[in-house]
Amino acid sequence: MSEHTQVEMTEMNYGKDRPEAEHRLMIEDLSLRDGHQSLFATRGRTEDMTPVAERMDEIGFWAVEVWGGATFDTMHRFLGEDPWQRLRTLKKYFKKTPFSMLLRGQNLVGYRNYADDVAELFVKKTVDNGMDIFRTFDALNDYRNFETVVPVIKECGAHFQGCICYSLTEPRIGGDVYNLEYYIKKAKALEDMGADSICIKDMAGLLAPYDAYKLIKALKENVKPLIHLHSHCTSGMSPMTHFKAIEAGVDIIDTCMTPYAYRTSHAALEPFVMSLLGTNRDTGFDINALARINDILEKEILPKYKHLLDDTKVSIIDINVLLHQTPGGMLSNLVNQLREMDALDKMDEVLKELPRVRKELGQIPLVTPTSQIVGIQTVNNVLFDTPKERYKMVTAQVKDLCYGLYGKTSVPIDPEVQKKALKGYDRGEEPITCRPAQVLEPELEKARKEIGNLAVDDEDLILYALFPVTGKKFLMQKYGKEKVPESLKPITLEDVANQNKMIEKARKGELVEKVKPEDFPEKSEYARTFNVFIEGDYFEVGVDEVGGAPVITYATAATAATAATAATSPAPAAAPEAPLAQALPVKASAPAPTSAPKPASAAKKEPAPAASSGAPVKAPMPGMVIKYEKNAGDLVNEGETVVVIEAMKMENALPSPASGVIKSVNYKSGDSVAKGDVLAVIE
Ligand code: CO
Repeated sequence: MSEHTQVEMTEMNYGKDRPEAEHRLMIEDLSLRDGHQSLFATRGRTEDMTPVAERMDEIGFWAVEVWGGATFDTMHRFLGEDPWQRLRTLKKYFKKTPFSMLLRGQNLVGYRNYADDVAELFVKKTVDNGMDIFRTFDALNDYRNFETVVPVIKECGAHFQGCICYSLTEPRIGGDVYNLEYYIKKAKALEDMGADSICIKDMAGLLAPYDAYKLIKALKENVKPLIHLHSHCTSGMSPMTHFKAIEAGVDIIDTCMTPYAYRTSHAALEPFVMSLLGTNRDTGFDINALARINDILEKEILPKYKHLLDDTKVSIIDINVLLHQTPGGMLSNLVNQLREMDALDKMDEVLKELPRVRKELGQIPLVTPTSQIVGIQTVNNVLFDTPKERYKMVTAQVKDLCYGLYGKTSVPIDPEVQKKALKGYDRGEEPITCRPAQVLEPELEKARKEIGNLAVDDEDLILYALFPVTGKKFLMQKYGKEKVPESLKPITLEDVANQNKMIEKARKGELVEKVKPEDFPEKSEYARTFNVFIEGDYFEVGVDEVGGAPVITYATAATAATAATAATSPAPAAAPEAPLAQALPVKASAPAPTSAPKPASAAKKEPAPAASSGAPVKAPMPGMVIKYEKNAGDLVNEGETVVVIEAMKMENALPSPASGVIKSVNYKSGDSVAKGDVLAVIE
């Protein structure tokens, strides 16, 4: 097509009755998946999608992305929603627009390669439940990881969209690894696999406008499938990048409805519709209809999510991403992780170490799950390495990567790091070179046996096979065997209004409702007095635990028995229910100033005390217990793995600090633990 997109602008209207453009730009809307995944931690609920679904179906999108990526995980873990049900529900509202999902190749919607039998059944059931287009990517751009899913996608009659993860090692396209030839080669490989369309997946917003022009032109000239651009807004370049891509002849672009747009999400749709109005790339969309959808979202839906927006900064773009090439989601994960570990001051060090770790791990693109793998390993290096020893705490996922379980890295992994990571690795110390899933044993039958009758259908079984710990928890809730925790329930607009009132009160200093002296509770024999010093002020504060004797007494050393009681006390995860006794040290019990109410996740539990005898295995970070490798009474050697905890989806094997006998095991699989909690004691 010509480079000139301008045509005569005659009488224009905003409605749908404009003449069809010569090379109409097609649009995929991402609001209902990547939009809330990028801006609102993937917390979008189905009930907040249905109010606009029918109107969105009328717009004329090429597709709407509604599933995959992190939604599957987040829904069952944090929202108490069955991911499969979302597909079926939305399908009732979207009667003509095809559904698209993000499929992480052999990682499906999880964070590791699953066995072929799981991958095959997953794709089949996903089509059964209403999926039309599989946007398929592999974090390493190793298309051997597509070999299982693609034939199933094709057999089911669905659309196979192959992705090339866009990555750089230089400021611009080029260099030895990610140059134009690299992308053309990858596109041809996808075409050979039968791709119906090819997507450039620019997850960190690194694609610069002129590079996009060059890249899209080259792809249009070299391969036949439709070319699709997915470019995040993080760095601020994306609207310009899309425009140059449109001029270069891109067939489809990804956008979001305005309330779900910009920041780490995608460019908004509406400015494109207006900019292209009356040109040969006119979308043909009805701008008034879009405005009505935005209105509903803005007034009735988004107030419920506003608190999830990262509002720590005024800027809505982050040009730092161009320097460290970290996708937005990964960055906020790193910030959260460091904050929970009281190490936010280490952020600069983490960003400095990150390119080094990436290079040592094979210069891989940074996208889920490699962004987490590289990110968490970097955090571990910064927090736990000593001047004498690097990679002191290697995550299980880095070991898998070094073994070849994710596929072939862009450049070889640093041999020293690889050797260290694979020392004692249970699959063997010699890395593999074949297609990763080839070494994976089938998983379905094992999963079926384990979960038994709790899985009623294949959808349940897949949920369990992909996420054994949280998936089982969800199924217990789904079938009424376990209560759905309050924290998983949705909030209403009324809740939001009440919260806003509280914040307003707090700002005016009226939050603490004064209790009249005649209503004071009686001081018990357990009341203790603390000296509290706050910036030059001194307070003497009496602290009396509500509801009986404190579990831990402050002055005397805790005995092993009380430590065990404290550590196994119920549900340490949800802050509001955390036993107060553990908040005794002055820091936590200082009189709360009249500040805005903190979200539950910000509250922290103080570390459980160490036992008086024996060597404790402490959680070095907050996380969830995956499994204990040792039980009480087992013999253990120093350095042997006692327990595996998951932090930010990465598994960390915690070694025994001493040789001896496991005296106590204080948690069980699925329990949340805080940093410093004693997970086991060795004697
Ligand atoms: Co994305």
